[in-house]
Amino acid sequence: MHISFLKENTGSKETIILGVFEEKIQTAVVQQLDQQAGGTLTRALSKGLFTGKKGESLSILASSGIDYHQVILVGLGKAEKLTPQVLQEIGAKIMAILGKCQDSRVVVDLHDLAMMNPSEAVAHIAVGAYLRSWKFDQYKTKKKETSLLKDLVFITGDVAISESTFAPLKSIAEGVFLTRHLTSEPPNVLYPAVMAERALELKKLGIKVEVLGEKQMQKLGMNALLGVGQGSVNESQLIVLQWMNGPKDQAPIAFVGKGVTFDSGGISIKPSNNMEDMKYDMGGSAVVMGLLKALALRKAKVNVVGIMGMAENMPSGSAQRPADVVTSMSGQTIEVVNTDAEGRLVLADALWYAQDRFKPQAMIDLATLTGAVHVALGHEYAGLFSNDDSLVEKLTMSGQSVGEGVWRLPLGDAYDKDIDSDIADVKNVGSGRGAGSSTAAQFLKRFVNDVPWAHLDIAGVAWDKKDKPLSDKGATGFGVRLLSDFLVKHYEG
Ligand code: BES
Ligand code: MN
Ligand code: ZN
Repeated sequence: MHISFLKENTGSKETIILGVFEEKIQTAVVQQLDQQAGGTLTRALSKGLFTGKKGESLSILASSGIDYHQVILVGLGKAEKLTPQVLQEIGAKIMAILGKCQDSRVVVDLHDLAMMNPSEAVAHIAVGAYLRSWKFDQYKTKKKETSLLKDLVFITGDVAISESTFAPLKSIAEGVFLTRHLTSEPPNVLYPAVMAERALELKKLGIKVEVLGEKQMQKLGMNALLGVGQGSVNESQLIVLQWMNGPKDQAPIAFVGKGVTFDSGGISIKPSNNMEDMKYDMGGSAVVMGLLKALALRKAKVNVVGIMGMAENMPSGSAQRPADVVTSMSGQTIEVVNTDAEGRLVLADALWYAQDRFKPQAMIDLATLTGAVHVALGHEYAGLFSNDDSLVEKLTMSGQSVGEGVWRLPLGDAYDKDIDSDIADVKNVGSGRGAGSSTAAQFLKRFVNDVPWAHLDIAGVAWDKKDKPLSDKGATGFGVRLLSDFLVKHYEG
């Protein structure tokens, strides 16, 4: 899908998309076209349910006085509510309407929305459409019902302003697409070494990429991570990405991702119902990779490291057992009571490594860590746990502005006590008294060594079986836009 900006449409005239505010208030463009067409649009608006609410649309076919074969009116909602996020959602709605479009080129004229800079507004609408256009269909050999749309043209008052606003937003969208793509790949195709190959492709964007295999991790003492992968024929990997384009003296911000390419539960095996969902248990690591790609594409002036702990959790004769005790890189011993609580084992070593090697000013991990967070917050918010109120504030604000909500949940001494082990320093599950997301986060906290840290439990938001405002059903890419906003607002000069 190619997106472009024009001052006037000089090309083909098949479908044009125009806007109407709530209570049928026509934009100037609509009024003008309506006059030209002898009131056709006003007449069309007078009947039916379309009132211009956000999310509504009305299609009007071939009417006299209008050059286009089809006019689609989209609801803009209330003029005073048009934030960048709402504009992106309107753009996404346009793309959803065009889902089975039979035209190869469609024109959108929303250049006259009287708010912020109207040409910047057009760029936000365009990126919303772009985000919604992504599909994962590479394994379909018979593509049916696909849209024929190739070019989406946005009319704008100032092409240069629209283009320069669009460019960084598009870079972020490319990061989102990488995240969605990796998250959607089946687990026979995407296992830890393949994730490493995909990461190495980012070298050409100027990202430094290192891959540690099992031998190197053994040397570092990463037995918590290694234990998770030891039942799998696929080798575990630690992937280290660096985008150091900020001031020399700026300590990096570290992002750490859980990358379990398939979580069967291991010997504590999961029920078969919905086990297929566990291909997206590497979603956190996919966000880290997508985020770094976005930073490199926009040449962001910031120092960021990304650490991805990759393993496959499988049952086998070599798999780790419930009751095993492993010594983590930090030196702390862990009693593995449940092999299905594996994400925290992977992160224990990945977090320790991140703070030990890079001395980051802040560390944020992303993990599809607990089913309990899905129960608590659904697909609406990621669970946020942190030892630092200012990080919480920043992440919450960014979540609100990009529509990727995070909701703080508690850490506390009682949860900490709950994971004390009888025979080791810590055990990997609580004693079954609820608050599974908090005990998991509390476990991670033992491995962050007082660095300002936030943990995002994205088990409920990384994937959605229904479509969302900016994404089709499936992988959402949740986190890339959130963290891009967070970096832009607080760490990029
Ligand atoms: N990967 C799962 C969590 C998960 C569940 C992610 C549903 C996405 C959707 C995690 O490794 C896990 O199995 N967690 C267990 C923890 C339990 C054994 C303490 C859980 O949530 O049941
Ligand atoms: Mn698990
Ligand atoms: Zn898992």
